[in-house]
Amino acid sequence: MTTSGRLPFPISLAGEGIMLREWRPDDLDDLVALLDDPDIARWTPMPSPFDVEEGIAYLKRAHQSRLTGRRIQLAITTDGRQPLGEVLLFGADAGMKEAELGYLVGARYRRRGLACAALSVLGGYARETLGFTRLLLRIDACNTSSTSVARRCGYRPSGEPPILHAGPYGSSNLETWELVDERRVHRDRQRNVARERYGRNQRF
Ligand SMILES: CC(C)(COP(=O)(O)OP(=O)(O)OC[C@H]1O[C@@H](n2cnc3c(N)ncnc32)[C@H](O)[C@@H]1OP(=O)(O)O)[C@@H](O)C(=O)NCCC(=O)NCCS
Repeated sequence: MTTSGRLPFPISLAGEGIMLREWRPDDLDDLVALLDDPDIARWTPMPSPFDVEEGIAYLKRAHQSRLTGRRIQLAITTDGRQPLGEVLLFGADAGMKEAELGYLVGARYRRRGLACAALSVLGGYARETLGFTRLLLRIDACNTSSTSVARRCGYRPSGEPPILHAGPYGSSNLETWELVDERRVHRDRQRNVARERYGRNQRF
C-alpha cells in the first residue's frame, strides 16, 4: 500500500509474456465480448446477459474504484492493446498485510496460461512492491479451472470454513486459498520482537 493507504493508480505491469494495463473507455466492445459468457456468470458475481449498458456501468465503477484506490483492476493483454481478460486485487487490509485477488479470461483465450501469468504478475507486485504477505483467492471447489490456476501459482487451501454465496445463477461454496510469504512473515515477527525489546526507535 502507499503511505496514503490507497492502492496506486495508474499502473501497468509486464512479465511472463503479458502486459496488465488499466481499462480504457474504448475497451467497451471487447469488455462486453469477454464478459457476456455463461462460465463467467456461473463463477463470478458478473451480471448475465452482460450487454453494452452493463459494460458502461462496469467501466465506470472500475474507474471510480481505481480513483479512490480501493482496488486494482487491470485488463490482461499480451501487448498493451486488446483485452483478453481481467485480474483484480481488492479487500486490501494494510494492517494484516493481506489482500484478495480474482481473475477471468475470455472463453476464446483460455488454456494459454493467461490466468496463471496474470495472477503471478499481479501477485508479485502485491508482495514485492505493495508489501502484502498473504494473498487470498476465494474459489468454488467445483470450479476446477480456477483451482488449477490457483494450485499452479503456488496457492494452497487455507483450511478456513467455506463461505456460502447465493448468486442468481446458482450458489457457490467459496473456499479460501492462500499464498503466504513465510520469509516476510518471519522477518516482520522478528522486527516486532526487536521493537518490543529495544524500543520503537530501532532501525531495522
Ligand atoms: C479460470 C480461468 C480464469 C482460467 O483461465 P486460463 O487462462 O484458461 O487458465 P490458464 O491457461 O492459466 O491455466 C492454468 C492451469 O489451469 C489448468 N486449467 C485451465 N482451465 C482448465 C479446465 N477447464 N480444466 C482443467 N484444467 C484447467 C491449465 O491446464 C493450467 O494447468 P497446467 O498448465 O498445469 O495444465 C478461466 O477458465 C475463466 O475465466 N473462467 C471463468 C471465470 C472464473 O471462473 N474466474 C475465477 C473465479 S474464482
